[in-house]
Order: sequence, then C-alpha cells, then structure tokens
Amino acid sequence: MNENTLESVQQCLNQFDVTEEQLQQIQAGILGDMERALGRQAGSSPSVQMLPTYVRSTPRGTEQGDFLVLELGASGATLRVLWVTLTGISGPRKEPVSQEFTIPTEITLGTGQQLFDFAAGCLVQFLDQLQVGSQPIQLGFNFSFPCHQTGLNQSTLISWTKGFRCSGVEGQDVVQLLREAIQRQGAYNIEVVAVVNDTVGAMMSCDPSPQACEVGLVVDTGTNACYMEEVRHVAELKEDRGRICVNVQWGSFGDGGALEPVQTPFDLQLDQESLHPGTQRFEKMVGGLYLGELVRLVLIHLAGQGALFGGVTSPALLTHGSVHVQHVMEIEDPSHGRARAQAMLQELGLTPSAQDCAQVQRVCGAVSSRAARLCAAALTAVLARVRSNPERSPLGVSVATGGRLYKQHPRFSALLQQTVRLLAPDADVTFVPSEDGGGRGVAVVTAVASRLALQRRQLEETLAPFRLHSQQLKAVQAQMRESMVRGLRGESSSIRMLPTYVCAMPDGTERGDFLALDLGGTNFRVLWVKVGSRSEEGIKIINRVFSLPESVTQGTGQQLFDHIVDCIVDFQKENNLSGQTLPLSFTFSFPCKQLGLDQGILLNWTKGFKASDCEGQDVVSLLRAAIRRRQGVELNVVAIVNDTVGTMMSCGYEDPHCEVGLIVGTGTNACYMEELGNVCAVPGDRGRMCINMEWGAFGDDGLALQEFYTPFDLSVDQASINPGKQRYEKLISGMYLGEIVRQVLLHLTHLRVLFGGQEFPSLQTKDIIKTKFLSEIESDLERWQVRAILEKLDLQADCEDALLVREVCQAVSRRAAQLCGAGVAAVVEKIRENRGLDRLSVTVGVDGTLYKLHPHFSEQVKDAVRELAPQCCVRFLLSEDGSGKGAALVSAVACRLAGAAGP
Ligand code: G6P
Ligand code: BGC
Ligand code: BGC
Repeated sequence: MNENTLESVQQCLNQFDVTEEQLQQIQAGILGDMERALGRQAGSSPSVQMLPTYVRSTPRGTEQGDFLVLELGASGATLRVLWVTLTGISGPRKEPVSQEFTIPTEITLGTGQQLFDFAAGCLVQFLDQLQVGSQPIQLGFNFSFPCHQTGLNQSTLISWTKGFRCSGVEGQDVVQLLREAIQRQGAYNIEVVAVVNDTVGAMMSCDPSPQACEVGLVVDTGTNACYMEEVRHVAELKEDRGRICVNVQWGSFGDGGALEPVQTPFDLQLDQESLHPGTQRFEKMVGGLYLGELVRLVLIHLAGQGALFGGVTSPALLTHGSVHVQHVMEIEDPSHGRARAQAMLQELGLTPSAQDCAQVQRVCGAVSSRAARLCAAALTAVLARVRSNPERSPLGVSVATGGRLYKQHPRFSALLQQTVRLLAPDADVTFVPSEDGGGRGVAVVTAVASRLALQRRQLEETLAPFRLHSQQLKAVQAQMRESMVRGLRGESSSIRMLPTYVCAMPDGTERGDFLALDLGGTNFRVLWVKVGSRSEEGIKIINRVFSLPESVTQGTGQQLFDHIVDCIVDFQKENNLSGQTLPLSFTFSFPCKQLGLDQGILLNWTKGFKASDCEGQDVVSLLRAAIRRRQGVELNVVAIVNDTVGTMMSCGYEDPHCEVGLIVGTGTNACYMEELGNVCAVPGDRGRMCINMEWGAFGDDGLALQEFYTPFDLSVDQASINPGKQRYEKLISGMYLGEIVRQVLLHLTHLRVLFGGQEFPSLQTKDIIKTKFLSEIESDLERWQVRAILEKLDLQADCEDALLVREVCQAVSRRAAQLCGAGVAAVVEKIRENRGLDRLSVTVGVDGTLYKLHPHFSEQVKDAVRELAPQCCVRFLLSEDGSGKGAALVSAVACRLAGAAGP
C-alpha cells in the first residue's frame, strides 16, 4: 500500500481521536449539566434531562410473581416480549421465555396508534403461544425514550429519539396509549403496572448481593445511564429523604454545542441526515444506530480521495443505512474481522483489495474506540455524583451494563472500562452484566409497582366511606330539618332546639362596661368589655386566658366553679376592678335548658368536660354559690349565653343580617333566629327568639347518621368520655377529627399500606393528633415539610407515607366540612321558608379553631351550602374576639330593653 494512502487514512482518522484532556472536559461538562438539571436552576438550560423514574430502591431480592415485559425502543426496530418469573430469595432461578418481533419501518415512522396496536398484537401472539389462560397479567413496559414520569405508571413521551418518529405520541402518556391498544385487542386481561427506561431495567436486573448496582448503563442503538440519587437533590420532587433513580438522558449532551471541539465533519453530516437533526448529539457519536453510518461516511470520503477502493464507490455504499453496527462489530473481530470486512464490502458492490479491508478495519476501530472513550467520560460523570453521596457503600460502585454494542462488540467494554480507570483512578467500579437484557429488572419494578397499586387500592377502599356524594348530604339536610321541627314542637328529637331568651340583636345604642366569662372552648377567658358608641369608641376588650387543668374540668363541680371565681378575682385585681359590681355575662358552651336569660340548667357535659354534680343544676346558681363561698366578692350575673349565641351577637353588632351563629372548634353547634310562634316551649307567637340548636347531638337517637359511621368513628366514640352521645359533633369537630385520623392510620399501618407496617408507639397514644396537625398538614406544603410534621409526632415516615397521611386527613376533614355544610343548609332554608321568601340573604357568624385555622374547611362548608341551599345567599362572617364580647352584648341589649343602661 502506498505511503500516501496510509497517510490520508491516518489523517482522516486522527479526527476521531479524543485526548484525555478533552475527555475530562466532557466529563466536567456532563457533570455540570447533571447538577444544573437536578437543581432546576433558573436561566440555565442543561442539555441532559435528569428525569426522576419513581424507582425508589434497588431490588431487595424478595420480589415474586409472574410478569409480562414488553420492550420497545432499546434495540432498534425490534420489539421483545418476555415472560419473567421472579422467585424471591429462596426460590430456584427461572429462565424467562422471550420472543422478538421486527417492527416494519412503516410502523416506526407511522402513527402512534399503529405502533401501539402492533405492540399489543405481539403481546397477544406471544401469550397465545404461552397458553397463559385468562388470569390477570401484570405488565412492565420497557420504553427506551426520554419520558417525563409522574409515577411508576405514568409517563409522557418528551420526544422520539433514534429511529422512531410515530405521530401523535409526543406529549402523551405512553402507558395510557398501550392500555388503549391492549383494550382494542381485547384478548387478555393485561394491566400495565409500570413503565421503565431500559437503563433502569438494566440496573434493577442485577443481583442485590454482594451489593446492589446503583448505576445502569446501556449502549445499544442509543446510549444512556441512570443512577440512584439522593431525593433531596432532585429539586422537582421537593422531598427531603430517601433516594430515587434518575434517568440521566445523556444522549442529548452537546445539543447546546458542548461537543463541538470533538465533532468531525462526518458527525455533522450524520446529524443533518438523521431523523432528528440537531438533537442527541452525544448519542450520535456513541450509539450503535449511528456507528455504521459514521463508518460509511468515512469510507465514502476516503474513496473520494482515492485512498480506498481505487477511488470507486458503489450505489449501495452511497445508500443511507447500508452499513450497520453489526458489520462494525464483525469487522473488528480479531480473528475473522478481515474476512468479514471483505464480505461486507463485496455485498456493497465493491471490489476491495486486502489493504482496503485492513483500512476499513482501522476506520471501524477508530469510530468505535471514540464511542467507548466518550461513553466512559460520561460514565465517570455519573460515578462522581454517586460517589459524592455521603451514605454510599464502602464497597465501591457497581454498574449494571446492558445493550448489544456494550455486550457484543469485541473491544468496546474493555476500552470503556480502561478509560474509566484512567479518568477516575480511585472510583473502585465493578461492572456487572445485566440479566435477560434488563427484562428481569423491569419485572422487579413491576412487582414493586403492583404492590404499590394494591396499597393504593387498599387506601381507596379505606377512604371510600368518607367520600360523601350529594344525595347523602341532601339526606342529612332533610333529616336535620325534620329533627329541628320535632325539637321545636317538643316532640322526641335528637336536636334539643333550646330557647335562649335572646330576642333582639344589638342596635348600636347599647353602652356600658361588662364582665364576661368564656368557658367551654380551647381557652377559658375572663373579659372586661367596654361598649361605647358604635361610630366612635366601639367595643373595647381587655381579656386574659386562664388555664383549666383536666383535674378541674373532670373533678367536682365545686372545684370547677371555685376555680372560675378565683380567676375572676385575679382578673379584677389586675385591672383595678375590685369592688365594682359590673354586670356579668357567662358564655357557657354546653347544652343548657334556659328558663330565662340568667338561668340555665346544664343538661349534660360535652367535649372534654365531666365535672361531677353539675348536670341537672342551674349553672348560674352554681356560679353564685361559688361567689358566696369566696367571701368579700360581689358579682352580678345577668346572662348565661351559649357560645353560638355569643358569636351571633358579636357578629350581629357588625352586620344586622347576622341571624345564625355557628361554632366549629373543639365542639360544634349552631343557633339562629326562629319565629316565636314555632317555639312551643315559650309562650307567645310574635317576634323571634334565638334558638340554641345543640346540633352536636344530632343522630343520638339512632335515626340519622348511622350510615356514615365507619368503624373508625365507632372506635373514637367508644373511647370518648360520652359514648353514643354527640354523634354529629364527633364526625365534625376538632376534638375528634384527629382521633378519627389516628384510627385510620392505625388501620393502614396494619394493612402495611403505611410506615412499612411499622407500629409506632406514638400512634397508639390517644389525642396525639390535634386539629392543628390537620390544619398544618393540609396546607400548601412541600413533601418534605409534610414529612417533618409527622416527625414531630415521632412518626418516622418517608415522603410517600407523608402524602398518604395527608390524603387521610383530607378525606376526614372534607367529610366533616360537608356534613357541617348540610346542617347550615338546613338552618338557612328553614329561615327562608319561615319568612315565605323566594330568596334569603343571611349572614352566619362563625367561630372555632377548626373553621378558622384549617386551610380548606371553610371553603368546603361554603361549597356544600351553596349546593344544598341554592335559594339562600349566605355570607360567613368570622367573629373576631370570641363569644365573650357577644355575651356582653346580650347583657347590654337586656339592659337597654329593661330601660336601664349599664353602669
Ligand atoms: C369562641 C368562644 C369559645 C368557643 C370557641 C370555639 O370564640 O369564645 O367559648 O367555645 O370559640 O372554639 P374552640 O375551637 O376554642 O373550641
Ligand atoms: C433514549 C434513552 C435510552 C437510550 C438507550 C436513547 O435514545 O433517549 O431513553 O435509554 O436511548 O436505549
Ligand atoms: C356544646 C355546645 C357548644 C358547642 C361548641 C358542644 O359540645 O354542646 O353547647 O355550642 O360544643 O362549643
């Protein structure tokens, strides 16, 4: 061979040399892009995609079952179907059954529907031969293209790569497309459970012992890698604990120009003539789909220069795609390569000399060596990230390898490994060939996904009874209405409909100083309320919260009332009120039968109160007796007021349309202005009176709400201090929602849906979950913040657990809001009908920690009311200063009506 020829070939091939320094730059470039893509830094446009795969752990080895695997896109225009049996740790290994199908070009370039119909057809053909019968089959879909996944079984194709370009698929969920195609076939009961990139399949195929692979590398028609990343580094996920497999999508590295220093004119030409010009620039220098083509372009060039084939080409050589990677691999075979080169060139219609064959071997070697070295540089970037993980294994990193080019090329893997050692001398890497071409890994992911799907079903089943539909709410509203009417008539009813002797709203002319007590909610308060002219001073309040230990709320009545008087005396001293006898209003948030404004017989305690010797007694008398016991104190108890009434009065001072009071806090209740003529317990039929409904007891007669009581509600009721009582309240109010949630969480833990089945002692503790917890966890938080809330309760959750807990809270609080809304709808509709109006505009004064602090509760109540009482326009007005102020106004109005202004 003449010197010139050798020289020309050498010069041409020199362009394929990549220096160590260039490799290092590529490594650094990819690593930088990976970090930017993970961090989602604004303004940066990294060329690798770093797609979360929702695979959260490497295989445990315990996965079991039969799975159908469909592989599409890894090995060019072939599609593979496998039947994989996983036998767990102890079972004997079973070889998979598999079959390959060639996808015709008119399909790889046709419509999406044609492609998926073809795939579904192959599945049917395969299963027919296997004779699996009609059992439900779980399928894992190995789809080797860049996809944006939002779960293990949801995956939107970002863009086609390699030789595929089917219309109508980009931007679509490929799982859904496959499901639809399977349904169109209608032959088998196949559920598509998971979708997996081929790199993930490779990583998950490897045996977990002695250590699991944390990186998956594929060099087939395309190239790519995945690896296990700390989830807190994946900005998109907003989680803080655990790991997730990230699909690097390194094939697109260089799409922004980073590869220019190493690109040859052949690379540029190849790109221009490819199916997707300008994209996947790195892949086009490494992937098997392109190596044959690069060789072909070089051969044409050298022939053109007269350096090969005596300067002659052939139509076949000039035809796009006539040289395949298979040729390249065969030509590089150390023993038969030369002969293979000759055979290929002859097939291409050339008459090669022995020297030509040797030169063609060199060309192939140069193209594939560059590919192996570039691929090694990319892999070292991934290894650098894995090694930056502080919790990484002391045993170094295992990389699962797959793909035909990597496995079948005579030198590719050796050269790649050698370059990795050169670029990352202390990386301590082990290369592990993946099994069954990654099919086994896809089956492992499918096994995990189907376990998760089962858990999701169990969660849905558990929460289904909490999800109420309109008809059910309408029924509650109707039953509530009926119970109201019966209660007003004095007939047997679970709702007591107690007269309050409050008949007029404040009109703004009230004046004076009042003392108020506020007992029964989260806080016990003493207040000094100064009522001035509405337009000038308005109402001024000085108040103090006193603690009420359980020994007092659940001790004797005498202790309770003595404690109350002690607090009043302290308060008077602090505010220089000692010696003055201001009119005192008592907000007492429990059901009382009133015989007048200043007389209320406690019918029964509710919520957390259980002081002895009080039920059946006049609460005002108990308070007066305590005042007498504490000598030297003068107090003038003028009114006893339920918190709902206090709230209505307080809001009524702001808005004269306020004729309903609603509390949704520790307990729940409502009051409203009823026509006196409808109130049998009070003589007279002119004017209106505020009725304390005591709706918390709705359903206590067993005639309503039975169907809504889940086993969780029953447990909460049974463990309460008043089983069988306050049944409506126990579905709605803050004191119970946390307990209902806790019961559901216990059940889900038992089913192993939550916390991996681990039973945390804190979850066994009654009342550990407060209303505040529900409000916090349901607010707009990132996943890691949700998890941190659970941690405060000593619940060691991962982010998935945290999201499940949030779903439980949402279901429980939403039901509460809807049931509450049904009650409000019954009340406002009654007022509307009482007045014979087509439309009613009314304001509801509201108070209570659940209503006020929960991020969605109030909106859900309003939604329900809008739906259930469409003829009422209901405004909800939050009471600002608690019901103590309203209670003072009750006294003020009474004083005004009695013609005696307050002192
Ligand atoms: C009002 C009252 C309390 C009442 C409470 C309900 O503001 O002043 O006496 O019981 O709201 O809320 P809670 O969430 O504290 O039970
Ligand atoms: C795809 C990757 C895939 C790789 C190897 C690329 O073209 O974009 O998702 O992993 O080929 O098959
Ligand atoms: C009581 C009501 C009170 C409500 C809200 C219920 O448990 O029975 O009287 O209005 O809680 O505090």
